[in-house]
Amino acid sequence: MTAPKKLFIKTYGCQMNVYDSERMAEALGGQGYVETSTADDADMILLNTCHIREKAAEKVYSELGRLKPLKELNPDLKIGVAGCVAQAEGEEIMRRQPAVDLVVGPQSYHRLPEMETKIRKGETALDTDFPEEDKFEHLKSRPKAKRAPAAFLTVQEGCDKFCAFCVVPYTRGAEVSRPASRVLQEARDLVERGVREVTLLGQNVNAYHGAGDAGDMTLAQLIRALAKVDGLERIRYTTSHPNDMDDDLIAAHGEVPELMPYLHLPVQSGSDRILKRMNRSHTADSYLRLLERIRAARPDIILSGDFIVGFPEETDADFEATMDLVREVKYGYAYSFKYSTRPGTPAAERALVDADVADARLQRLQALITGHQREIQNSMVGRDVSVLIERAGREAGQMLGKSEYLHSVHIENCTAQIGDIVNVRIAEAKTNSLTARHL
Ligand code: SAH
Ligand code: SF4
Ligand code: F3S
Repeated sequence: MTAPKKLFIKTYGCQMNVYDSERMAEALGGQGYVETSTADDADMILLNTCHIREKAAEKVYSELGRLKPLKELNPDLKIGVAGCVAQAEGEEIMRRQPAVDLVVGPQSYHRLPEMETKIRKGETALDTDFPEEDKFEHLKSRPKAKRAPAAFLTVQEGCDKFCAFCVVPYTRGAEVSRPASRVLQEARDLVERGVREVTLLGQNVNAYHGAGDAGDMTLAQLIRALAKVDGLERIRYTTSHPNDMDDDLIAAHGEVPELMPYLHLPVQSGSDRILKRMNRSHTADSYLRLLERIRAARPDIILSGDFIVGFPEETDADFEATMDLVREVKYGYAYSFKYSTRPGTPAAERALVDADVADARLQRLQALITGHQREIQNSMVGRDVSVLIERAGREAGQMLGKSEYLHSVHIENCTAQIGDIVNVRIAEAKTNSLTARHL
């Protein structure tokens, strides 16, 4: 028997890329690859890339430059680029970095095995189609390996929203939902492999409309069905758009105990003028009213969001409106980014905000968000939470996991096993985690 070839995958970008990287490793497992954790001893390196901001794409080219010399040490080494940069740049990647053997867009991962055969013959392979067939159903899985207790499960891909700044509708294509029966099957399969918590993924996951037994199912219906899967204890979903939070999904937050009290619901800006220019089709006020309804259904829910500062034509007053909105919502987590021009998007044509002004705004926003985050973490002290144990800590007897609110929790003198869900009392809040004792 020949020794297995080694595969190193480096993943950038969103959680959907993390999920896809796992699927690609499985698909290439059938070609005799096992995963390795370093590029140095790999026979194939795959960069699963992100195109969301300018820096993200540039990082890929500099990483490729660093990897190129490895080909001199191992003449059998093949280098591939997958993900959203692959989709957006296509052949240009091979022109700019001839060391690249393979370029594959996110919709074509099921074609990786045949592409691998092709590059092993010394040819190059390029596939950035939006094929008719569903990649998920055609990705062949390896024998069922044990999994960590928390897993991602992609249920929807692509986006039809066309926010004026965003490349996702171009790199991932139109919104497509997986049939509910397949999602449920995959969830049952994950449970068999040790999974207790799934995070349902989609660029616009709450617009889910996968085929069910009696017509299309909504995300709320899918969640209610998943909650009945034996052994599946926790459900999360991300990322959502404010316009797709329907009444049933809001109600599910109050009614489905498996649905965790955490919601990532990006608003991007607090200024209606900017929201309009972003093509977000909601206002700051409609977003705030929506949060009121969600909090009424699940009062302890922790909210998370995304913000863009320095969007073209953003004035000081627009930015202050964002600060006001953040003060009003008080996010438990929030991610803020400086606007980055993406060629081909509508906003790319517009006048930029001065870079220093945008930097200063970003710093102020991040300081405000960090303050709230700490306050919310501190307010957990003395409270009882449930923790899904994910791994052993560095110190003896210490176990680590996530609370229902997605906080990282260290439990001292813990006898629980990985995959257990334990009730603990929070004793202390540190910068990035909480410490707890068993009840
Ligand atoms: N589908 C998700 C996530 C999109 S990408 C959603 O709709 O929320 C994640 C975040 O990146 C976005 O929410 C946005 O805040 C940020 N982002 C997207 N395009 C950007 C750009 N051109 N410049 C800066 N940030 C951007
Ligand atoms: Fe991008 Fe907007 Fe779609 Fe989110 S909703 S993926 S920000 S276009
Ligand atoms: Fe990035 Fe593509 Fe995800 S651009 S954020 S990897 S959908």
